[in-house]
Amino acid sequence: MKKLVVFYSFEGNTKYIAEGIAKEMGADLLELKPLREPKKGSFMKYVWGGREVMTKKEPEIESIDKNPDDYDLIYMGTPVWAWTYAPAFRTFLSKVNIKNKNIALFCCHGGGKGKIFERFKEDLGENKYLGQIDFQDPLKNNREKDLEEAKKWAREIEKSI
Ligand SMILES: Cc1cc2nc3c(=O)[nH]c(=O)nc-3n(C[C@H](O)[C@H](O)[C@H](O)COP(=O)(O)O)c2cc1C
Repeated sequence: MKKLVVFYSFEGNTKYIAEGIAKEMGADLLELKPLREPKKGSFMKYVWGGREVMTKKEPEIESIDKNPDDYDLIYMGTPVWAWTYAPAFRTFLSKVNIKNKNIALFCCHGGGKGKIFERFKEDLGENKYLGQIDFQDPLKNNREKDLEEAKKWAREIEKSI
C-alpha cells in the first residue's frame, strides 16, 4: 500500500509529527511550503495568518512534486489557524484532485482546535475519512508521548483499511 503524508508547518510542531508518522509508516512526505511567510515567533504571525484565513487566501506555494492520486492512503497534517486548517492547504486543494481517497487527518494547536476537522473534511469533499487526531503544541508539551501516540494512531489507521 502506498502512503503519503502531506503537511504544512509554520513553527515545526506539525512537521515533527508528520515526519514521525512518515518514518513509522514508510510513507512519502510532501511538505507544503509557502513562498512568503512572516517572521517566526513574532506577534505579527497572528495578524497575518488570521487575515489569510479570514480572506480565504490561497498563498503561493512551492511546486508540488507528489501526485495524491498515486497513493492508497493519505495522512494530512496542519496547524490550527483561527480554528481551521492553514491557508497553504487551501492552495493545495485548489491544485490537486482528491476524491474517493482513504484519508486520515491530524493537527497541532495551542489549545483551541475549534471545528478544524469538520471544516477540513467539508472542503476536502467526498473521501473516506478513517480517523483524526490532535496534539497540543507537542514540541513544548509532551514531545515523546505525542510522537508515540501519533505512530500508534497511524498504524491503526492503516489496519482499518
Ligand atoms: C496565524 C496563527 C493562528 C493560530 N490560531 C490558533 C487557533 O485558532 N487555535 C489554537 O489552538 N492555536 C492556534 N495557533 C497556534 C498553533 O496552531 C499551534 O501553536 C501549533 O502547534 C503550531 O503548529 P506548527 O508549529 O506546525 O506551525 C495559531 C497560530 C498561528 C501562527
